[in-house]
Amino acid sequence: MCGIMGFYGISEEESAGLVVLKGLQNLEYRGYDSSGIAYYNSLNNKIESIKRSGKLANLSKEILCGNPLKSGIAIGHIRWATHGKPTNENAHPHLDCTGNIAIVHNGIIENYIKLKGRLLKNGHKFITDTDSEVIAHLIEDYILQGFSFSESVRRSALEMKGSFAVAILYAPEKRVAAVKYGPPLVLAQKGGNLYFASDISPLLEYTGEVIYLKNSEIAYFNDGVLDILSFGGKKVKKKVAKINWDASKVAKSGFSHFMQKEIYEQPSCILDAFSSRIVFENNIGDNKSSKIVSIDKNKNIAQQLAAKKFKVALEDLRLTKKDVESAQRIVFVACGSSYYASLISGYIIESLCGLPAIVHYGSEFRYGSFPVKNTDIVVGISQSGETADTNSALELALAKKAKVVSICNVPGSQITAISNKGVIYTHAGPEIGVASTKAFTSQILCGLLLALFIRQYNGFLPLGYDPSVLFKDIVELPQKIEKILLEGEKIRDVAKKYYKSPNFLYLGRGILYPIALEGALKLKEISYIHAEGYPAGEMKHGPIAIIDENMPVMFLLSNNLLSSKTVSNIEEIKARDGIIITISDYEPDIEGISDAIKIPETSLFLSPILYAVPLQLFAYHIALLKGTDIDQPRNLAKSVTVE
Ligand code: F6R
Repeated sequence: MCGIMGFYGISEEESAGLVVLKGLQNLEYRGYDSSGIAYYNSLNNKIESIKRSGKLANLSKEILCGNPLKSGIAIGHIRWATHGKPTNENAHPHLDCTGNIAIVHNGIIENYIKLKGRLLKNGHKFITDTDSEVIAHLIEDYILQGFSFSESVRRSALEMKGSFAVAILYAPEKRVAAVKYGPPLVLAQKGGNLYFASDISPLLEYTGEVIYLKNSEIAYFNDGVLDILSFGGKKVKKKVAKINWDASKVAKSGFSHFMQKEIYEQPSCILDAFSSRIVFENNIGDNKSSKIVSIDKNKNIAQQLAAKKFKVALEDLRLTKKDVESAQRIVFVACGSSYYASLISGYIIESLCGLPAIVHYGSEFRYGSFPVKNTDIVVGISQSGETADTNSALELALAKKAKVVSICNVPGSQITAISNKGVIYTHAGPEIGVASTKAFTSQILCGLLLALFIRQYNGFLPLGYDPSVLFKDIVELPQKIEKILLEGEKIRDVAKKYYKSPNFLYLGRGILYPIALEGALKLKEISYIHAEGYPAGEMKHGPIAIIDENMPVMFLLSNNLLSSKTVSNIEEIKARDGIIITISDYEPDIEGISDAIKIPETSLFLSPILYAVPLQLFAYHIALLKGTDIDQPRNLAKSVTVE
């Protein structure tokens, strides 16, 4: 949702406009409806800007045909409209009255009406319907009062309310500034040049070393010198973070879509999520220097697991034994697919740790009256780490002295800064397709690792729990996902039969119920087909009314989960002529199934991961047949940074 890219090259050999354009292309996945670039023209010491509604291609056509953007400094933006329609005019950058200042902004300026009123009285002219334009005039106003550029930026930042990441280009002094209060901003320096962006994906091709701005910090850059100051005006020393994502991860690498590539990356993502975190028992504990020895996936896994007792060690989690022992419940907050991963994690926590788990939507939690206690462990699950509703809910929990932990995919994102008890990184690598796939399955695995970690301290002994079977199944999971991916063509054939259907119902029970929700969400998001997920046992309490010979019903059937009950639900649908499609880990003895997709068996707690994969492929192939924009579905944004 909105994206900023900026470049300050110390020579004009490199066209800053083209660097920024390329960066914006890497940010496209965030979701947007217009775009623009402002660059410094050294011939007249002025700012030139180009803005276009619609896809980035509209802007790049303009730039590549008519305007080479020969310049060493540029800032660019992709906008997801909040205040004002997605027109050329409302697209960023916005200029002040003199045209000396250009700004791009992510977030919302909540007090813009008040600020605008004052600035109008001071004679400023506004030409857009946006809240963001006020920023350019506010800085201009302070400069007119005689303040320096940096002091004007600082005073403006202190005056604005809401959430904002802002990049500012100031032509008279050839300077750029970047302000963070809420949405992310990442800086990188290479060969005297400065690159900055809303996330690391456009920076990876230049360097793997970045600086994350924190809230209430401002970066100033001019002629190779970077200064970072707090809103209070104090110089801040920043650490450089090393990113181990490589640039190829933000390319399609031969796949037709990022979503397809990300579905196929899941075996390695799952491996990355657990491989260094399953360790010999005598190597865990609070002893940070203990050597972590993980399972060797090339040797006989069963033998390795039998020989030693394995446990879970989570490197960035700061929950202590005392925190876990005093915890009376685990509360999850998340949105969308991450909410479904939370439902699954809650199920696992209750089963494995014997602790009550409560799962809330971020948007409901923040305005609800949920009584947070200091004995709660509150877990935020988020791919992006930028979801405003989730982050606000966690801030609230933090204010009530809860222990806050996150499961997140993006290093250095906002949620990781909020989490006072640390992070479990999903290690899925950049997820570019708007519809979450690999991040979702990695979240489930990390939810399980969290449950195993908690269980190590709270000592709960679930009935029939055999850790060696579970650990073995974790290690074998990547191969089992591979096996499902090899069935891609079969799933495509099923998709071919049903892609014209206007409605779908997805049914599952227990730990697979959230997967029914996720399967339906994936289909809705990328194919625009109406689909509903429901607990199979609830069907007869209402949804059964919509069953007729035109309704495909996707059943998630598992041999280790109330299979006979779900089979009865299948019979109920059959009796009403509904079309039955099954995904199952066994051969159910049922007649009249239209299409059956078989997947490998695994432990109950891992089964959601295996059931999610064919549903992702099913949605993908239906969308492909319908010809929708799979990686950037209409109206959706990858990072939902506003309420
Ligand atoms: C679905 C999807 C969204 C996100 C939701 C939360 O495919 O991607 O529903 O899951 O917007 O986003 P994060 O996980 O970034 O907090």
